[in-house]
Order: sequence, then C-alpha cells, then structure tokens
Amino acid sequence: MTTKAARLLLFILFVGSLAACSYRVEKDEDTRGVIRPSAELVAKVSFADVYRTVLQPKCISCHGTSGGVSLETYASTKNFLGKIHDTVLIQRRMPLAPVAPLTREELELVAAWVEAGGPEFPLNGDPVEPPPADPVLQPNFPSIKELIVDRKCLQCHTPGKEAGRIPLTKLDEFINSPLEIVIPGNAEESGFVLVLLENARKRMPPPETGMAPVSPQEIEVIKEWINSMDDQGQSPSPEPNPTPPVPPRNEPAPLAPTFASIKANVIDRKCLQCHIPGGKAERIPLKALKDFTESPLEIVIPGNAEESGLVLVTAADARKPMPPVGSGIPAVTPEEINVIKEWIQNGAIN
Ligand code: HEC
Ligand code: HEC
Ligand code: HEC
Repeated sequence: MTTKAARLLLFILFVGSLAACSYRVEKDEDTRGVIRPSAELVAKVSFADVYRTVLQPKCISCHGTSGGVSLETYASTKNFLGKIHDTVLIQRRMPLAPVAPLTREELELVAAWVEAGGPEFPLNGDPVEPPPADPVLQPNFPSIKELIVDRKCLQCHTPGKEAGRIPLTKLDEFINSPLEIVIPGNAEESGFVLVLLENARKRMPPPETGMAPVSPQEIEVIKEWINSMDDQGQSPSPEPNPTPPVPPRNEPAPLAPTFASIKANVIDRKCLQCHIPGGKAERIPLKALKDFTESPLEIVIPGNAEESGLVLVTAADARKPMPPVGSGIPAVTPEEINVIKEWIQNGAIN
C-alpha cells in the first residue's frame, strides 16, 4: 500500500469513528410522535407483560381495585382499553406525577397491546406466565414497607423530594421521629395511622394526587404491627411473606362446542383484534352471543352451520377469509371449524 493510500484509509477510519460518536450524543430518549410497535411485538404481547412492565409499577398506586379506574385485573383493565389508548398513547396524560412518564419501550408495549385488541394471551399462541400475584400484607415492617410505603409514600418522602423533610425509608425513621410517626404499642396515636384515616386533616397519600388511599383492611394490619411492638420498638421477629400460591394457569379449557369455549379459544384470540370498538371491523361486533345469532349478516344461523357467516368466512377457501390473510393472525384450524359447526348444528344455544 502506498503512503498516500494508507493515509486516506486512516482518514476514512477517523471520520467513521467521529460519525459513530455523534450518534451517542443524543442519548435523551425521544418519546414524542406516534408510537408504532413492530408486528412481532403485537403478535407476542400479553396482558401479563403489560401488567408486569407498566401497570404494576406505574399505574396501580392510583388505579387499584378501590378506585373507579381499576387496572389490577385483566377483566377490569380490558374495559378501559379505549381510554388507555387515549390517555396514555395519544394525550400522554397518564401516568400522573409523581410517577415517572413511560419510556419509549413501555409506550411501545402498551401500543402493541392496544393494537392487538388487548389480548390476555399472545395472539401467536405462545404460552405465558400468569402475572405475579401480589403478596398479602403482613403485620411486619418489611411487608408494610414493600406494599404500602414504597408504593404510596416514597415518591415524596425521600430526601430531595417534596416531603424529604420527613423521610420514610427506614424503620428507625418511623420509630424515632419527633413527629411520633410510630409510637410502639400505641397505634391509635401514631402519626402513620392518623394520616391514613379518611377524616385526617392532611390525609396521606394526598387525595389531590389521585393516588388510591390505603384501605381500611391495610390500616388494620399496620395497627396490628404497631401494637405488637414493645416500647423498645422491637416486634416479634418478622415472618417472611408466605409465597402466595401460584394461581392455576389461566389457559381457557380445551375447545368444546359451547359459546363460552369458542369465544375464549377462537373469537377472543383470532377475531377481536379488529372486531372491537376502535378496531378495523368495529361495525361488526363479535362479543355477545346475540352479536352472532341476531346479526343481519347471519353470522350464526342456529341449526344451519353450512350457511352461517362464521363458518363461511373461516373456511380455507373463503372469498374474504377471516382473520384476513396477511394480518399475521393464525387461521382458524379445520378442527376448530368442526367444533364451531357442531355448536351451530346443536342450535347455538350457549
Ligand atoms: C398519581 C396518580 C395516577 C397515576 C400514577 C396514574 N393515573 Fe390514571 N388517573 C389518575 C386520576 C386522578 C384520574 C382521573 C382524572 C383524569 O382523568 O385526569 C385518572 C384517570 C385515568 C383514566 C380514565 C381517563 C378518562 O378519560 O376517564 C385512565 C384510562 C387512566 N387514568 C389510565 C392510567 C394508566 C394506564 C396509568 C399508568 C400508565 C395511570 N393512569 C397512572 C391518576 C393517576
Ligand atoms: C404526593 C406526595 C406525598 C405522598 C405520596 C405522601 N406524602 Fe406524606 N406528606 C407530603 C407533604 C408535602 C407533607 C408535608 C411535609 C412538610 O410539612 O414538610 C407530608 C406530611 C406527612 C406527615 C406529617 C404530617 C403532619 O402532621 O405534619 C406524615 C406522617 C406523612 N406525610 C406520612 C405519609 C405516608 C404514611 C404516606 C404514604 C401512605 C405519605 N405520607 C404519602 C407529601 C406526600
Ligand atoms: C385484522 C383484522 C380482522 C380480524 C382479525 C378479523 N376480521 Fe373479520 N373483518 C375485518 C374487516 C376489516 C371486515 C370488513 C368490515 C366492514 O365491512 O366494515 C371484516 C368482516 C367480517 C365479517 C363480515 C363479512 C362480510 O360478509 O361482510 C365477518 C362475518 C367477520 N369479519 C368475521 C370474523 C371472524 C369470525 C374473525 C375471527 C375468526 C374475524 N372476522 C377476524 C377484519 C378482521
């Protein structure tokens, strides 16, 4: 290689390395603009993913079962699908402060789940782990810290935050506070209990944040813990949280010729992505039994499977096959079609 060529090569390498660096400068995440999740993510996202990654850490401190918008179970979250789309993806209003805004990755996950129609299980049929059950609150400090204080107090009661003057990060800060946050053996006069009560003058967490209040049952557990302490602040050694029993996998039972079974196994998985309010085929809802049996499109003609739209559109040789070719959603299998036919022939009753 000539010296000239060698120098040119060095120069190219140098410029190349500069270009590589300049990418790294813009480290700040851009979460603006329309979020378009990949088709792959849409096919594999499940409620459990969304719950674990977004709802549990960023929503349920305000949207627990005690509030109007409950995002703690699949069924109740599904009811708010359209509103989650509007408030999280379009208006970007949720989560409210003090919870941190969603990252790009979290937004993509929510967008994928909404686009998929809010499925409980992945559309591609992958098995999923059920969302972890919340441990039960126990009358000891580690449990109360994990389930109450970390979730509902630390956003503000950490040094540097708006109530940093009253830190609540360690046991000692509860017991030795001049504000008598915890008076061992005397729950009734402990500030920790007083601020949680419905009629508290300065109720915590502050109602104007929209955070769900600590429930009366939880307050009872906190009182039990405080009353179990001797005046040295020693409580009987904390029992570790019992591992909650693993709930049975929420797989629908195998396909049977009933409406509930066909709905859970076929319609929910392969049709609702589009046939729900806000979906591409919202004009043709496929939710309740009557949407099938009373539709002017004759989707189900009880006793006459061969002429029922449901059978015609799912047939391999349909003119407009459902789910549409190219949607990435697996076709209804011949075995599934046979069970659907059996159900319709039997009168499509339930
Ligand atoms: C700090 C509290 C807080 C957090 C965290 C929070 N929200 Fe909300 N959310 C509220 C309050 C208060 C309202 C009712 C007032 C409003 O609509 O702004 C609300 C309303 C909603 C609504 C109903 C909107 C409507 O138009 O009826 C939805 C849906 C919602 N939130 C979803 C979420 C989701 C999803 C998250 C997590 C990504 C989240 N929120 C996090 C406080 C919160
Ligand atoms: C959104 C922020 C926020 C959250 C969440 C919050 N607090 Fe507070 N808290 C405050 C502020 C602000 C004060 C007043 C601080 C001051 O006086 O400097 C306060 C004061 C207190 C006080 C002292 C009350 C008094 O009489 O002076 C206690 C005790 C307290 N909080 C406990 C809690 C507990 C327990 C939780 C969780 C269940 C909680 N807080 C959640 C913001 C918050
Ligand atoms: C990817 C989106 C998508 C999926 C998934 C999907 N459909 Fe559709 N479907 C459509 C669209 C779009 C139309 C036309 C809607 C319109 O005309 O307003 C349609 C129309 C229909 C029609 C009416 C056909 C006609 O003759 O006009 C039926 C019946 C139907 N779908 C059933 C189903 C069933 C059953 C499934 C699941 C096995 C399914 N669809 C899955 C998008 C979908």
